[in-house]
Amino acid sequence: GGIVPFYGKHQAGVITPMQDFICMGAFDLTATALADVRKLFQSWTAAAARMTEGKNVDDESDNPHLPPVDTGESMGLAPMRMTVTFGLGASFFDERFGLASKRPAPLVDLPHFNSDDLRKEWTGGDIVVQVCANDPQVAFHALRNLARIARGKAVLRWVQDGFQRTNAADPTGSTPRNLMGFKDGTNNPKVSEPAVADEIVWAQSSDDPAWMAGGSYMVMRRIRMRIEIWDRSSLDDQENTFGRHRLSGAPLGKTGEFDDLELDRKDGQGKPVIPAASHVALANMDGKVKILRRGYSYSSGMDLKTGQLDAGLLFVCFNRDPRKQFIPMQQKLAAADLLNEYITHVGSGLFACLPGASEGGYIGDTLF
Ligand code: HEM
Repeated sequence: GGIVPFYGKHQAGVITPMQDFICMGAFDLTATALADVRKLFQSWTAAAARMTEGKNVDDESDNPHLPPVDTGESMGLAPMRMTVTFGLGASFFDERFGLASKRPAPLVDLPHFNSDDLRKEWTGGDIVVQVCANDPQVAFHALRNLARIARGKAVLRWVQDGFQRTNAADPTGSTPRNLMGFKDGTNNPKVSEPAVADEIVWAQSSDDPAWMAGGSYMVMRRIRMRIEIWDRSSLDDQENTFGRHRLSGAPLGKTGEFDDLELDRKDGQGKPVIPAASHVALANMDGKVKILRRGYSYSSGMDLKTGQLDAGLLFVCFNRDPRKQFIPMQQKLAAADLLNEYITHVGSGLFACLPGASEGGYIGDTLF
């Protein structure tokens, strides 16, 4: 229920240990002047810093003839480790604000991946705001009030929610399971070690552009699961799809969740114990390419056309340069992953998450 500091070298919500809920929104700017964008980020910074501490978005005016300043639904609630993380999409750098020459080279247009079925309503955006918290109402409140502040300058493009098992349901903090029933996050890099985070997550001052130093690139993919098909496939099929055991999360043929994959192990017939087309065998990238995954499950009612559950993974990952990390990894997965039989990517976004702000500064002050 505590406070995760908002100000710092890096934005919170990236290497921060995962909270229970995510409420993420993308905005398109309606403002036409850079000065208005700057004002928006200044107001957003102040509001996000306050809400992170469990405070209202701003002091009330006490004028009964005006609408209340804060929408009110988080009054009296604890901070719940809420974090707010801001990022910029490629479209932010088009001709509108004169920032085209500042577009970071790693902020590419993502290529089309095999079997993508991207929907406009879950894709793109000039700006992303990721809110995570250990309470869904606290998270919603923050996004709602940031959207309110944006009125006249930016409009919502999409909002997506996600969850995982709450920390209350698993006080031991073991690896959470995704909606396919498997432990998800086991082999994430140990970004609590600064050298690991610098290598994999944070843009460095030696990287181009310098104003991104301390920031990171976020990839969002809304990945729908074909739950009904998955639920009808055998345990063997399921375990071969991931390359891990369902119950323990251990690599196939091993017993400990955190045992090494050892992808070159062969069975009696000389076949790899972990199938070469399994999700972990491919995503491992020979141990050379890594990303920080920070995704949540989503459940979005039902698909009225098929009568099936609309549920899956709101995949979020952070990396220092998607051209060298996420993109080659997803190309490899899209081409051959056994998991593809059970999933479809239906939403997408790539965002340059700005460096952190220091008190007195604002998110984006290294750029505009
Ligand atoms: C590992 C699930 C999509 C990258 C895993 C594991 C599971 C899993 C259960 C094994 C446990 C672990 O180490 O966390 C899923 C599901 C997906 C999905 C259900 C889609 C619905 C993706 C995507 C990427 C990705 C799109 C990146 C492009 C990875 C990586 C690993 C991994 C890097 C660790 C591989 C290693 O052990 O070295 N995933 N994943 N996953 N996944 Fe995914």
